[in-house]
Amino acid sequence: MTRDRPLKGIYPGSFDPVTKGHEDIVRRALAFCDVVIVAVARHATHVKPGLFEVAERVAMIEEVFQDVPQVQVTAFDGLLVDFARAREASIIVRGLRAVSDFEYEFQMALMNRQLWPGTETLFLAPDPHYSYLSSSLVREIASLGGDVSEFVSPTVRARLDSRFGRSNDIDPTNEP
Ligand code: PNS
Repeated sequence: MTRDRPLKGIYPGSFDPVTKGHEDIVRRALAFCDVVIVAVARHATHVKPGLFEVAERVAMIEEVFQDVPQVQVTAFDGLLVDFARAREASIIVRGLRAVSDFEYEFQMALMNRQLWPGTETLFLAPDPHYSYLSSSLVREIASLGGDVSEFVSPTVRARLDSRFGRSNDIDPTNEP
């Protein structure tokens, strides 16, 4: 099938910070979409304690995908479907790591389609190597002095190290 316009996917999320699991989903989405817009939400459904400012999350994702011109990165306010419609992005991309993700993801997919019938959600399974990975675990491990280099790109790791002053000086045997 030929298209007269590029097929745009939008990959929304909190990305606090972006992990190798997210990177894997973006690369998989590029097999279906001509352009993938990674969209950092200012209004997430489940508000979690934030670590990085939205602008910093965007900057990290831009650095990670600096060599991939088909990837655009931006923050957005308000409803995802309004943003997707404004950008003419008809596919919402979401990663499904495990069955535990399903209920929330299914609910959002149906609600988004109800709000804007012009959209479909495309669920992608990550590389199993990343199926246990989440930004919240990365934040926790980094905050406690652990090594997250396996889970995030070097640019993200550097920012986590600088945020937490990683020096491995936490003594796990040091009881209160
Ligand atoms: O990475 P997350 O936190 O699971 O992503 C959730 C996100 C950002 C995709 C969702 O909260 C969202 O779409 N927020 C924008 C506001 C919105 O459209 N809410 C209605 C969702 S049905």
